[in-house]
Amino acid sequence: MLSIFSKTAQVIAPSITKQSRCIASLSALSDTYQMLHKTCRDFAEGELKPHAAKFDKEHLYPADAIKKMGELGLMAIATPEELGGAGLDYLAYAIALEEISRGCASAGVIMSVNNSLYLGPVLGWGTDKQKKEFVTPFTTGDPIGCFALSEPGNGSDAGAASTTAKDGGDKWILNGTKCWITNGYESKATVAFATTDKSLKHKGISAFVLPKPIKGLELGKKEDKLGIRASSTCSLIFEDCEIPKENILGEPGFGFKIAMMTLDAGRIGIASQALGIAQASLDVAVEYSSKRIAFGKPIMKLQAIQSKLSDMALKIESARLLTWRAAWLKDNKKPYTKEAAMAKLAASEAATFASHQCIQVLGGMGYVSDMPAERHYRDARITEIYEGTSEIQRLVIAGQLIKEYGL
Ligand code: CAA
Repeated sequence: MLSIFSKTAQVIAPSITKQSRCIASLSALSDTYQMLHKTCRDFAEGELKPHAAKFDKEHLYPADAIKKMGELGLMAIATPEELGGAGLDYLAYAIALEEISRGCASAGVIMSVNNSLYLGPVLGWGTDKQKKEFVTPFTTGDPIGCFALSEPGNGSDAGAASTTAKDGGDKWILNGTKCWITNGYESKATVAFATTDKSLKHKGISAFVLPKPIKGLELGKKEDKLGIRASSTCSLIFEDCEIPKENILGEPGFGFKIAMMTLDAGRIGIASQALGIAQASLDVAVEYSSKRIAFGKPIMKLQAIQSKLSDMALKIESARLLTWRAAWLKDNKKPYTKEAAMAKLAASEAATFASHQCIQVLGGMGYVSDMPAERHYRDARITEIYEGTSEIQRLVIAGQLIKEYGL
């Protein structure tokens, strides 16, 4: 049966080119955002989409594409120009990251981790010296950075970090294992969290920035993942890893708050990545259903299919507005913890929903790798897990609501 589907795919797959002509609300934004959107869409169409299946299948880190994204300013969008970045804001970041992820979700997460999780905390809490060493070179796409918070025993419960940082006079000595580190293999620096005093629980956690490779830091095995397979994920194992005392970010004991604030911003990134995957799924479903004939007409004319397409579009557009709102709040220095969690929750659920429905619209064709639908389905799944699961986002939203009600 599958070979018949494959034959059909050869006829249909190369012609999957249609995309929604406009993103609702984009036309209300300034020329800068519209130009950025077009640049990213053209780049994704020309340099990412044609290769995304190969990157995925062969687990290939898209080094050339990431360097070109660096040249376009995409690897440091909200980093000030004087430090080598594009000097734009988080709304620009959300728009760009969606388009990149629409072309290749792996390139999307590589970009997201470098921008939000790595550069974010160094920009926010780093000294001028740290910024010179750990920001400017990392704006180019090569090198890139990573973020080491989760541990084998503590993912959602980030405050239970057991990696230690011992005060060794003029240095810190790090011991412990960090896991699920996106960009873990290729990165040349990491922001890492470790406790200087376990009895203080989350108040004993500090943040550090350090170069890679470095003596005392080994990489664990590269994970063989369901999706986003062109980005690497591995553990970082610290064994008496000595780093200079000055490599702490912010005050000792402030690391948990740095992690939480960094993740607030990171969630806007993952929401945007999820939107890109969701929109790519809708593009495939629309194009395919406009061509596939059943019961004497294109299946797009069938109400059962129309209902799926409209539900997909509804979830995507509402998640996009939530994502842009969270970015706007951040850009305007207003609280946005709840809104970033809402955006990430809505967009990641939209991505899993849209990619599921896309396969349903394509039927057997959705189940084979000749078409991108199955890749979008696999890529979407992680967006409900990393940078806080959907369950954690609900917890964060409820926590903020309770505060708002003064309870
Ligand atoms: N901003 C600022 N401060 C915050 C904050 C925020 N968003 N959230 C919490 N805090 C502060 C609180 O105000 C509190 O401060 P005080 O001690 O001064 O009172 C402190 O942090 C502790 O807060 P909580 O009691 O709420 O903390 P908690 O232990 O109950 O945890 C949590 C809350 C929301 C569950 C948090 O642990 C969390 O977000 N977990 C998920 C972690 C996560 O997203 N991990 C993903 C890692 S990165 C990744 O995915 C890999 C990759 O490479 C992509």
